[in-house]
Amino acid sequence: MCGIVAITSSNRRGDLGILLTEALKKLEYRGYDSVGIAVVDQGNLYVAKNVGTVESVAKSENFASLSGCVGIGHTRWATHGAPSKKNSHPHTDCAKKIAVVHNGIIENYSELKNFLLSRGHVFISDTDTEVVPHLIEEFKRAGLDTYSAFRKAVSMLRGTFAIVAIDIDGGRKLLFTRKVSPLVVGIGSDFVLVSSDIVSILPYTDRVVVLNDDEVGYAEPGRVFIETVGGRSVDVASRVMKVDYGVEDFDKGPYEHYMIKEIREQPYTLNQTLSGLISSRDEVEKSLKLLESADSIYIVGAGSSYYASLLGSLYFRYLGFRAQALVSSEATPYLRGVRPGDVVVVVSQSGETIDTLLAMRESAKRGARVVAIVNNPLSTIARESDAYVYMKSGPEICVAATKTFTSQVLVLSYLGLAMTRDSHRIEASLRALRRLPEITASMISSTENAARKVAKKISTEHSVYYLGRAFGYPISAEAALKMKEVAYVHAEAYPAGESKHGPIALVASGFPVVFTIVGELDELIEGNIEEMKARGAYVITYAPSDRITSTVERNSDLVIPLPQVLLEVSLVTYVIPHQLLAYYTSIERGYNPDRPRNLAKTVTVF
Ligand code: AGP
Repeated sequence: MCGIVAITSSNRRGDLGILLTEALKKLEYRGYDSVGIAVVDQGNLYVAKNVGTVESVAKSENFASLSGCVGIGHTRWATHGAPSKKNSHPHTDCAKKIAVVHNGIIENYSELKNFLLSRGHVFISDTDTEVVPHLIEEFKRAGLDTYSAFRKAVSMLRGTFAIVAIDIDGGRKLLFTRKVSPLVVGIGSDFVLVSSDIVSILPYTDRVVVLNDDEVGYAEPGRVFIETVGGRSVDVASRVMKVDYGVEDFDKGPYEHYMIKEIREQPYTLNQTLSGLISSRDEVEKSLKLLESADSIYIVGAGSSYYASLLGSLYFRYLGFRAQALVSSEATPYLRGVRPGDVVVVVSQSGETIDTLLAMRESAKRGARVVAIVNNPLSTIARESDAYVYMKSGPEICVAATKTFTSQVLVLSYLGLAMTRDSHRIEASLRALRRLPEITASMISSTENAARKVAKKISTEHSVYYLGRAFGYPISAEAALKMKEVAYVHAEAYPAGESKHGPIALVASGFPVVFTIVGELDELIEGNIEEMKARGAYVITYAPSDRITSTVERNSDLVIPLPQVLLEVSLVTYVIPHQLLAYYTSIERGYNPDRPRNLAKTVTVF
């Protein structure tokens, strides 16, 4: 996944390079292999790019020296072609008049490249993207104007793409199109911005138009033109939305990393999520009506959103509803059983994860109704769903999900509870859920020192088991994912009872095993703790105080007490000590938890 940003301004800007740099910094969570910008200034095209972070490349390539009225920028997470200067974006045509940036994968680039090579075009990079500027050039040679040549060029592409192009012959036009990969247009008083994510638009304007799939167009100061690839023009004015959070949400504030900021924000964000659920009755009611009418419920997500889905599906079954969780990338074969009357809940904080989006479309194709749980109401998944619940967690910049995971679990718990229509149970649970801010804050403060202590032990290990039963297993799975993502320790989650069917063979003296006791349906976990201790494991047990028995004490090297709370509250909060453990282990091992290697915040490629 990559980050794209572009701007066109009515006045020539001496700070154009600086503005593109600042906007790209906000997109680095989408990829940071290599970076580049291109501007048109006084009839010339200037391109500056290299391998490295935005900060380092902006310095080495002197982005600040670039001026002009129109420019594009790109931060890359390599898919085709290794990270290198020649493979970094923007890419240009032979005449160096056109520059293009792209996020996604052009599946038919080989045949297009062969066609262009046969027409005498010279390629520099190994990327799929480079076919785009040469295609535009080819159609300009055939007599088309810049926009018509761009439109024809992108109509030949197959795959997923968000593309922005500039052309010396195109004046101040930003040419753009999208298919699956996100693209948003920000409309200012005398400028227009285009970006992969509103995060880089917000400092300049809160008026945005989200491009739909198969839309193409251009922007110049004071004008945005959009049409479908089929030629139907779009009423842009009717598509303008106002974003409801501000740029301050994206600032790290006094924290060293976004990850610890977002962990510590959870008392606030969970309160926002719950308040949103209680106040936005209409969307929630719409979702509830669909869920209550469902024959079967499938809950689909990827990564942390899958583990939230798994936890939610267990809770739905615990309440007596037929629900099962599916991994987005594996969902299509399992969704073959979906029929009209079923409901598929898609969980995605970004609302752009391509595996989840495709699972959603497959479900709709089979006649299921779709309820989305998203953190971005402007996202593709939100807009294509039959109803969506907005998590209101605020932007999550750290690649590793923390506050959005707990908000997802809260939404699923709330929906499950509401489906029971059991007013006593709902009222009792809501009373407990309304105390989430104080419970979460005390959970963080009471387990943070233990996290620092355990991190010292785990940071020297290569592997660790996370074991839990029933609800404790999805929580363990999310905990293990955090540890893998930011500390690069091989962490494996298992249902605790399953560990004796093979995994326990790995346990030797000192092997770290982390148990999570939730306190519901997991009475037998004490035997699993004894089994691990008997084989010499280093046992760390997280448990509510009423479950810290003498057996647990005797067989654990370290016991970390958790607050004794209602089940719905423990489902939401018991992962938080594990978030802290992963964070401090990452720090202990000298890594930057905000920029985990090989990962991107939103996976918009297969
Ligand atoms: C979680 O820490 C990772 N960032 C990743 O697994 C993520 O949860 C997954 O890519 C799904 O993202 P989404 O919620 O935006 O769909």
